[in-house]
Amino acid sequence: MDVTIFGTGYVGLVTGVCLAEVGNNVLCIDIDPHKIDLLNSGGVPIYEPGLDEMIQSNRTAGRLRFSTDAKAGVEHGLFQFIAVGTPPDEDGSADLQYVLAVARAIAEHMTEYRILVNKSTVPVGTADRVADTVREVQARLGRTVEFDVVSNPEFLKEGAAIEDFMRPDRIIVGTDNPRTAELLRALYAPFNRSHDRLMLMDVRSAELTKYAANAMLATKISFMNELSNIAEAVGADIEKVRVGIGSDPRIGYQFIYPGCGYGGSCFPKDVRALERTARGLGYEAELLRAVEAVNFRQKTVLFRKLNDYFGGELGGKTIAIWGLSFKPNTDDMREASSRVLMEALWEAGARVRAYDPVAMDEARRIYGERPDLILVNDALSALDGADALVVVTEWSQFRSPNFNAIRSRLRIPVIFDGRNILDGSLARAAGLTYVSIGRAPLKPA
Ligand code: UDX
Repeated sequence: MDVTIFGTGYVGLVTGVCLAEVGNNVLCIDIDPHKIDLLNSGGVPIYEPGLDEMIQSNRTAGRLRFSTDAKAGVEHGLFQFIAVGTPPDEDGSADLQYVLAVARAIAEHMTEYRILVNKSTVPVGTADRVADTVREVQARLGRTVEFDVVSNPEFLKEGAAIEDFMRPDRIIVGTDNPRTAELLRALYAPFNRSHDRLMLMDVRSAELTKYAANAMLATKISFMNELSNIAEAVGADIEKVRVGIGSDPRIGYQFIYPGCGYGGSCFPKDVRALERTARGLGYEAELLRAVEAVNFRQKTVLFRKLNDYFGGELGGKTIAIWGLSFKPNTDDMREASSRVLMEALWEAGARVRAYDPVAMDEARRIYGERPDLILVNDALSALDGADALVVVTEWSQFRSPNFNAIRSRLRIPVIFDGRNILDGSLARAAGLTYVSIGRAPLKPA
């Protein structure tokens, strides 16, 4: 089938390449000529495991092309995926200008039936706004070409996006038109083989499902982070509590890891946007507001622990940081806890020596050259001349470090583990003080 994808960001690229992989003829459109040039010369603007190889093989096979020509895009695909950004505007609501600009472009160039598929995370009611926009343009141009607008939210995890697309838990299709539903069912058939994962619903329920999923996951994390602070106050160990409650299948073990807060492009933005949507309709979403507030505070927990440890004297100290991305297997630093920590440290007059397996270029792009940020090429080098080590992102490679090497390189033998991934008893045996989340610090015997 012929498919057009508007937007070659994270969601658009993954959607495009996975649809090409199963044999569709995919044309990806973006207004950014640099991005399209990069993709046409074999580059990939983002890091995602497996993406690069899949883009190259599908390009070579001729099933995946990139262009800035919106008209050609509209002519190409029966399916017109809208996968452009919906950045938060000043009050946290999703900014729909890019989505509606694509809707206008499609309306202008459309000469036969098209299905507009909303892949971007958009507030409930956006499909109707997209349809209204298309109708307005058509009225202005004096045309009536048939079209449908479908909500088909993505549930891709960064770092596992290809896998999530190729083997989805669910495929949500929101449309009131049975014919459109059948066309989407056919498009998704290769990803829906062993049992039926395609859930058909009305447009607004599909739109809300996306927000509901992310808000629920964010709530689980903030709940655990809140409990971790209570655990510290009452002298309990949050890790024992985590295992204790996770064993109840109604609660489950997933997404109940306490830490230094959630980041990324989805949870912070979506929780805020859902809260704003509700408020705009006269409903105060108390729980969502609390989820956000708890997360905001939790992102400062590492700074507070460091500040307490050093008795408020962080000026002139050098702090080693392991992990800059908001989570492992991505270079994405959007809303990352590392940023809150580094910025607070700089404010307090401290220097940072940081290492991340893939996000170093991203850190350079965000912060540029500055004397209080030294990016080093391996984890142990971050410790040279550092007064303390802080683990901020749960990369696998940080899980079993050589504690003796850490001990001998650090000026002050102390580790702050923002994700509870290290074995504190081994750290302690090597002569290190081990400070983690939701439990008492361990001091060398
Ligand atoms: C999320 C959803 O998982 C995905 O389904 C949706 O489509 C987009 O948003 P993503 O933002 O890529 O995906 O990251 P995810 O793996 O969910 O992690 C989000 C954040 O929560 C990370 O900062 C992670 O470190 C943190 N986290 C996760 C915790 O602090 N504790 C946990 O138990 C799990």
